[in-house]
Amino acid sequence: MAITSFRQQSPEPDPDDSNGKKKSRRNSRKQQSDTDDLLLATAMADETDNQEERIRPHRLADYIGQKELKGVLEIAIAAAKGRNEALDHLLLYGPPGLGKTTMSLILATEMEVNCKITAAPALERPRDIVGILVNLKPGDILFIDEIHRLSRMSEELLYPAMEDYRLDITIGKGQTARTRSIPLPHFTLVGATTRVGSLTSPLRDRFGLIQRLRFYETDELSLIVQRTANLLKAPITADGAEEIARRSRGTPRIANRLLKRVRDYTQVKKLGSINQEVAAEALEIFNVDPMGLDWTDRLVLTVMIEQFNGGPVGLEAVAAATGEDSQTIEDVYEPYLLQIGYLHRTPRGRVATVAARKHLGYD
Ligand SMILES: Nc1ncnc2c1ncn2[C@@H]1O[C@H](COP(=O)(O)OP(=O)(O)O)[C@@H](O)[C@H]1O
Ligand SMILES: [Mg+2]
Repeated sequence: MAITSFRQQSPEPDPDDSNGKKKSRRNSRKQQSDTDDLLLATAMADETDNQEERIRPHRLADYIGQKELKGVLEIAIAAAKGRNEALDHLLLYGPPGLGKTTMSLILATEMEVNCKITAAPALERPRDIVGILVNLKPGDILFIDEIHRLSRMSEELLYPAMEDYRLDITIGKGQTARTRSIPLPHFTLVGATTRVGSLTSPLRDRFGLIQRLRFYETDELSLIVQRTANLLKAPITADGAEEIARRSRGTPRIANRLLKRVRDYTQVKKLGSINQEVAAEALEIFNVDPMGLDWTDRLVLTVMIEQFNGGPVGLEAVAAATGEDSQTIEDVYEPYLLQIGYLHRTPRGRVATVAARKHLGYD
């Protein structure tokens, strides 16, 4: 599934959205589920808005893990509030499902401001971003997902907006063209991206804070699974939560998704509460192996081992041989395989490691 080729049309930004908190928040939620989808491999996007909203933590205190990020933001929030100013512009980067959108919404709650959520593909034309910018209120957060995909014209409108809270727009063409400058309220831009390397440096340099999200540890994911299970009223034991956590590829979104599948299994089979045995049994059925690798992870590694002798092999060759989109492999599958040491990147291409061979049963 090519993440570049589906659902590019996020809903139109709503320039008439000037009547207060309620409406803007509702719009945000709708847009947000759409922007989330953009980042996900097929299998990762199976939640409805409602469920997602129920599970998402709303306060910084409920945001589990990412200690470093939380530490930095706690200080930024307290400082900005103390001065009665907007937060500095913030760039969040890291693989999908680690909590970028969630953090942006939390910042808005903590700062007691609105969060307008959109994604770069919805800001193709300059008027899209102009419409959003002129409707911001002082302190508001503008969240732009996949910010590395902004069109050049939209990006250039953002420079003075970020730096001087000013919008420079050109009216007319050629000889009669005039530039008008419109003052903007002090707002906070939160950008999210899975590929920080694809950002242009003028854009990157305009963020006061640049923070990376890391994969979560098993004990952190266990807490997230237990928290979600509580919210879903699904009885679970500590070792049941840990089993799901271990198989979640360091990613909260996956942990929550696996929990729901295990809950369904437990309910249908009338097994009572989710313990380790039940969780392992259910996840086998859903093709999630003990390391959390799914069908595509294993396909990628198997193809590398069997067709390319373990590598080094170029990304495009792996993509062609697996029928996956190369960007999806790079953004969604590779980061975790690299993290657990099943894959190495070398100047000559990707290599499947001995650990990967062992895991898949080759000698
Ligand atoms: N630190 C966290 N603590 C608890 N739940 C989290 C955390 N981070 C993410 N989640 C859960 O994972 C889901 C995906 O997070 P999201 O912010 O949408 O990821 P991203 O925007 O990075 O792709 C959210 O719905 C939320 O419920
Ligand atoms: Mg997101």
